[in-house]
Amino acid sequence: MARSNARSTPVLSISLCFFAVCHMYPTPDDRDKLMKVEQFIFTGGNLLPTTKEIKVNDILMKIKVKEVTEGTKAGKFPPAMHFFRAKDLIEQSTVFNILRKLPKGAALHLHDYALLNVDWLVKNATYLPNCYICFTDAGGVRFHFFLNRPEKRLVMCSEWVLLENYRRQLKNVTEFDNSLIRNLTLVTEKPEEAYRSQGMVWRRFEDLFQAASSLISYALVFKTYFYEALREFYHDNVLYIEIRALLLLVYELNGTLHDKEWSIRAYQEVTRQFQHDYPDFMGAKVIFSTPRKYNNSFMKTTINEAMMFQQKFPEIIAGFDMVGQEDAGHPLWYFKNELLIPKETGVNLPFFFHAGETDWEGTSVDENILDALLLNTSRIGHGYSINKHPMAKWISRKFNVPLEVCPISNQVLMLITDLRNHPAANLMAEGHPLVISSDDPAAFGARGLSYDFYEAFMGIGGLKAELTTLKQLALNSIKYSAMSVEMKVESIELWLKKWDEFLDEVLNMFNRNEL
Ligand SMILES: *[C@@H]1O[C@H](CO)[C@@H](O)[C@H](O)[C@H]1NC(C)=O
Ligand SMILES: *[C@@H]1O[C@H](CO)[C@@H](O)[C@H](O)[C@H]1NC(C)=O
Ligand SMILES: *[C@@H]1O[C@H](CO)[C@@H](O)[C@H](O)[C@H]1NC(C)=O
Ligand SMILES: *[C@@H]1O[C@H](CO)[C@@H](O)[C@H](O)[C@H]1NC(C)=O
Ligand SMILES: *[C@@H]1O[C@H](CO)[C@@H](O)[C@H](O)[C@H]1NC(C)=O
Ligand SMILES: *[C@@H]1O[C@H](CO)[C@@H](O)[C@H](O)[C@H]1NC(C)=O
Ligand SMILES: [Zn+2]
Repeated sequence: MARSNARSTPVLSISLCFFAVCHMYPTPDDRDKLMKVEQFIFTGGNLLPTTKEIKVNDILMKIKVKEVTEGTKAGKFPPAMHFFRAKDLIEQSTVFNILRKLPKGAALHLHDYALLNVDWLVKNATYLPNCYICFTDAGGVRFHFFLNRPEKRLVMCSEWVLLENYRRQLKNVTEFDNSLIRNLTLVTEKPEEAYRSQGMVWRRFEDLFQAASSLISYALVFKTYFYEALREFYHDNVLYIEIRALLLLVYELNGTLHDKEWSIRAYQEVTRQFQHDYPDFMGAKVIFSTPRKYNNSFMKTTINEAMMFQQKFPEIIAGFDMVGQEDAGHPLWYFKNELLIPKETGVNLPFFFHAGETDWEGTSVDENILDALLLNTSRIGHGYSINKHPMAKWISRKFNVPLEVCPISNQVLMLITDLRNHPAANLMAEGHPLVISSDDPAAFGARGLSYDFYEAFMGIGGLKAELTTLKQLALNSIKYSAMSVEMKVESIELWLKKWDEFLDEVLNMFNRNEL
């Protein structure tokens, strides 16, 4: 097998032939050539660096190699550790601090209720007047804002208690607020003990989404939360985001309920307001999403709704997706008839399917990745299993359907432990179309996009990932976004300007002689 190139990908064999080594078995003299080919194929490997970029790369790689060496020596290499234990180490890393300044382009895979660090929810939202809490039988919490305390309880939850009164009788409010923060994230000191299976971690994940959504569904919180989330990404040097949003009902204090259209308009208004306040931000789009556990008739209604929203709000609605644990929900093919409605009715509804977020091979859910492509998905959410599907991988590459890789999410949700072994290491080595995103940073105790960039740069890309890799990833995120062509052009211009400033900043920060 080793001598046959029949199984190599088309691109690989073309590049090899280009270097004239494809017909004969290579000799040790070909080593340099072969290594160059690998380097060229690697994500960003074909970008010709400028003189300034070469200088910055030298600095960056020196720091990187130093950190890798020291981390390995100490047996504490963050990408090989669970993120909850690695986070403090990452924050001390110089590479991480450079990555925070890096203009990262766009974050394309995010979810509505886990965008913003939960501190804001606990320290600001739960301190708003009229905030009530109830304690669930399973040890969790739910919130609601009422003018007057209702008698009616939620199923499996205690009576509603006004938080202001509840806090007043506590001995230690900080301790209580910390417990609320824990309720809204998966963070724990011993994740291996707290979460013994993917099923267990997903149940807690779903619970924290319910707790968060019970706070965020209050109109006042809803708008401020999104504004603050945009600010968090902006400060993390992200210039545009796309969020998967369920568009759940939003309520007012007097009980008025707002429908999905209200939420879409609210996202649009907040985005415009934010761009007014921060003109060097390119905006946000919404991918309308629905849980994959629902049935066919529900999906039919939802698809029709999605088509309607996309036509009515083309500026903000990018398309459609399904959410929830893939292994526990219906496979895409189960919804084939519903998902073909747009095509049959001649309506363009872009899809952005989560697919292949599974460790299983050969289950019906494992076919999602191929089915997503057959249904013309614009991008693949995660695509974690793609290496097990050569045809899907080939289609994705040939037709430029990128994967949205979310390293920390995959680790915390227990698909993988050591991120050096993430399947995207293979994809990066092959220069496969991909972008890096953070999925649910708030739920994982992360913030913005930099932590996932760190894992991708240090862990997934290993020592081969360089400055051009980062450049390519940022450029990919703009290229593969749902922005209009005009917006993409504008984004690239803005990004290039920030990139140049970033290079200067790194050069100024690190006098090369000091390293
Ligand atoms: C959140 O609350 C803190 C403390 O009360 C305050 O300083 C801060 O401005 C608030 N932030 C927002 C965004 O409202
Ligand atoms: C309250 O709890 C926090 C967090 O556990 C702790 O740091 C603090 O010392 C406690 N304060 C008092 C007065 O006990
Ligand atoms: C959630 O909050 C409740 C109330 O403070 C607390 O009893 C419980 O331990 C918290 N859950 C977690 C996972 O910390
Ligand atoms: C409820 O409150 C909202 C927002 O303050 C207001 O627009 C609406 O008119 C109120 N509805 C009723 C029935 O009072
Ligand atoms: C589908 O789900 C909806 C909403 O959960 C439910 O009302 C309806 O009865 C279900 N239909 C079928 C055919 O099971
Ligand atoms: C997918 O796109 C191809 C090429 O544009 C088209 O022929 C096909 O009908 C599309 N399929 C669906 C399901 O939209
Ligand atoms: Zn996701």
